[in-house]
Amino acid sequence: MSATPSSPDEGEQAHTISYDDNELGPTGRPRRHVPEPQPLASHGPAKIIAMCNQKGGVGKTTSTINLGAALAEQGRRVLLVDLDPQGALSAGLGVAHHDLDLTVHNLLVEPRVSVDDVLMRTHVENLDLLPSNIDLSAAEIQLVSEVGREQALGRTLYPVLDRYDYILVDCQPSLGLLTVNALACADSVLIPMECEFFSLRGLALLNDTVAKVRDRLNPKLALAGILVTMFDARTLHGREVMSRVVEVFGDLVYDSVIARTVKFPETSVAGEPIITWAPKSGGAEAYRSLAREVIHRTGR
Ligand SMILES: Nc1ncnc2c1ncn2[C@@H]1O[C@H](COP(=O)(O)OP(=O)(O)OP(=O)(O)O)[C@@H](O)[C@H]1O
Ligand SMILES: [Mg+2]
Repeated sequence: MSATPSSPDEGEQAHTISYDDNELGPTGRPRRHVPEPQPLASHGPAKIIAMCNQKGGVGKTTSTINLGAALAEQGRRVLLVDLDPQGALSAGLGVAHHDLDLTVHNLLVEPRVSVDDVLMRTHVENLDLLPSNIDLSAAEIQLVSEVGREQALGRTLYPVLDRYDYILVDCQPSLGLLTVNALACADSVLIPMECEFFSLRGLALLNDTVAKVRDRLNPKLALAGILVTMFDARTLHGREVMSRVVEVFGDLVYDSVIARTVKFPETSVAGEPIITWAPKSGGAEAYRSLAREVIHRTGR
C-alpha cells in the first residue's frame, strides 16, 4: 500500500500512480490506491455530477440512488435531482411521484417556486431528493422560448449549493434540452455504461455533446469517469468488452465495477437503495467502493 495522501491535490496524483499491491480488480487492472474518506469538518459548496448516457437502461438511475446513498453513508450531504419525466429515481426511493403537487417541472418553469418548496427528505440520512413525474415532459417545449433556457436548472440549484457536498442529477436517456441543462450546470459527468458491445458506439456522440457544452456553455465541465455496470465476469463477451473499454478510456474507467445481479430490480420494487436494503451485498459494496473513488477524485 502507498502512503495516504494528505491533500486533494496529492490525492489526485496518487490515484494515477499508486496501486494496491498485486490485486487485480474487475477491470483486469491493478486497483489504484484509494484512501478511506475523512470526515468533513464543514459542508458545501456542492460538486454537481450529471449521471448521463443517452442509451436507455444502462444503470443511470440505479447508480444515482446508490452512489448517493453511499456518499451519504460517508457523512456527505447529498441532493439527488430527478431530471427524467419517467420519475424512476423518485419511485426507486419510494416516493409516490404521480400524486406530487410540486416537482422539478415547477422549479424549471415557475420562477416563484423555490427548491425548498419541492425538496423531500428520503429515508436515508443526509440524502434529499428533488422529485419528478410525467409533468416534466412538457418542460423541454416550455423552455425552448426562454432566454437562458440551458441554464434553468443551474439557476434553481444555485441557492442550495452551500448546503450539500454533492448534487447528483439523474438524466433521461436523450441528449435533449433537459440533459443539456444538467451538463450546463455540472462540474462533471459520470457515465454509467452497460458492459455490452453496442454500448461503446454511443459514447462518441455523448463525448461530442459534452465537448460542445464545455465550449459553448460550461468551460469547467469535466468527465468524472466511466462506470461499467451489469458486468458478468463469467462470460467471455463481458471480459472482452471490459478490456476494450479500458483500452479506449484508460484511467477514466473507475476501478469499481457493478456486477449484474437481480438484487437491483428487487431494490426498485422495495423503493430503497441497495446500500440500506441489502447492506452486505456485493452490489452495496461496489457502490461504496465507487463512492470512495468519487470522493478521492473530487477531493470532497
Ligand atoms: N447491476 C445491475 N444488474 C442487474 N440489473 C440492473 C443493474 N443495474 C440496474 N439494473 C436494472 O436494469 C434496469 C435499468 O436500470 P436503470 O433504470 O438504473 O437504468 P437507466 O439508465 O436509468 O434507464 P433509463 O435510460 O430508462 O433511465 C432496471 O430494472 C434496474 O433495476
Ligand atoms: Mg433512469
